Amino acid sequence: MKTILITGGAGFIGSNFVHHWRKHHPEDRIINLDALTYAGNPENLTGIEEGANYRFVHGDICDNELIPKLFEEEKIDTVVHFAAESHVDRSISGPEAFIKTNVHGTFNLLEAARNTWANDSGCRFLHVSTDEVYGSLEADDPAFTETTPFAPNSPYSASKAASDHLVRAYFHTYGLPVLTTNCSNNYGPYQFPEKLIPLVFINALEGKPLPVYGDGKQIRDWLHVADHCRGIDAVLQNSHPGETWNIGGCNEWTNIDIVRLICRHLDELRPADRPREELITHVTDRPGHDRRYAIDAGKIMRELGWKPEYTFETGIQQTLAWYLENQTWWERVRDGEYRKFIRQQYEELAI
Ligand code: NAD
Ligand code: TYD
Repeated sequence: MKTILITGGAGFIGSNFVHHWRKHHPEDRIINLDALTYAGNPENLTGIEEGANYRFVHGDICDNELIPKLFEEEKIDTVVHFAAESHVDRSISGPEAFIKTNVHGTFNLLEAARNTWANDSGCRFLHVSTDEVYGSLEADDPAFTETTPFAPNSPYSASKAASDHLVRAYFHTYGLPVLTTNCSNNYGPYQFPEKLIPLVFINALEGKPLPVYGDGKQIRDWLHVADHCRGIDAVLQNSHPGETWNIGGCNEWTNIDIVRLICRHLDELRPADRPREELITHVTDRPGHDRRYAIDAGKIMRELGWKPEYTFETGIQQTLAWYLENQTWWERVRDGEYRKFIRQQYEELAI
């Protein structure tokens, strides 16, 4: 039985991972630590009840009193570290929070683990990172492997690359039993509607313009969040410490094709007067916009037997159906209603 600290477990991927872990490892105790920034939403955790096997802690990974205390108090033996500032556009307009949380926060967690864990304890610190640390590819370049040199281009990817380097250094210098995963773009339930897929879906549903940056020919590799969670689980259970693992969907799409695909699906699900593709609006490109990301997931497929269960077709259909069925969830996110809930639930109670 593990006592697993999940950081950022009220965010998009973290909350999906909490649901995954509760379902597949019900005997383990989960400590979910989240600062509930604009991206953290306790409503993502509906159905997960406080009790012997679950505790939510409202706190900041940068807090150097809380974190060591939590490690001691809860006898944490496993960390899955999602907490981060995660949106590239926000990192361009305000990079400081990215350096604080992504770099300093990761450092703080590593220090707590180093000071608490004995060398031979079987503990694991899994750091969740992104393919964006590898930089941008040309159309004909081979996909990123685990040995592709880092070349981050945005404040977000630079802060994630810095944290990846720190994690690596704690293995080499102190022997901390770390693991790192670098994953491609995720999509699925509970994604905050500032990211491409939920934003386009909601705007299309409401007949609003669909903003496509520049020519829309930028390419991303897309993976369903449930497959990402399964990949992290496989790495946690089976990898030697010190290893890094690329996780991706072998599923490259241009942004404009994704936007068109969403429009087509929605036209079928909820017919409108005019095809929703007419709502596509090309807007000023993101500064320093990476042209292409592509992941070579050969290592995790060969060595751990992982592969995506969702095709993009089934994954997008499931995701769009989820957003249609959970309109209250995204309306409360968009209107800020969930912030009021957080204030009542956590801030007034000071937990
Ligand atoms: P998200 O923005 O949806 O969630 C981040 C969570 O971290 C939120 O719940 C937020 O409240 C919490 N948080 C932020 N700062 C914190 C702090 N200082 N202390 C404690 N909690 C804090 O992000 P996401 O999309 O779920 O991404 C999770 C992780 O996965 C990130 O590390 C990200 O870099 C990585 N990742 C994301 C993607 C993707 O496509 N979304 C792809 C690859 C890797
Ligand atoms: P995003 O979901 O922000 O993820 P990331 O920047 O981490 O890849 O964006 C995915 C792609 O979609 C990226 O190339 C930027 C583009 N994009 C748009 O064209 N319009 C939008 O409104 C958004 C949010 C993103």
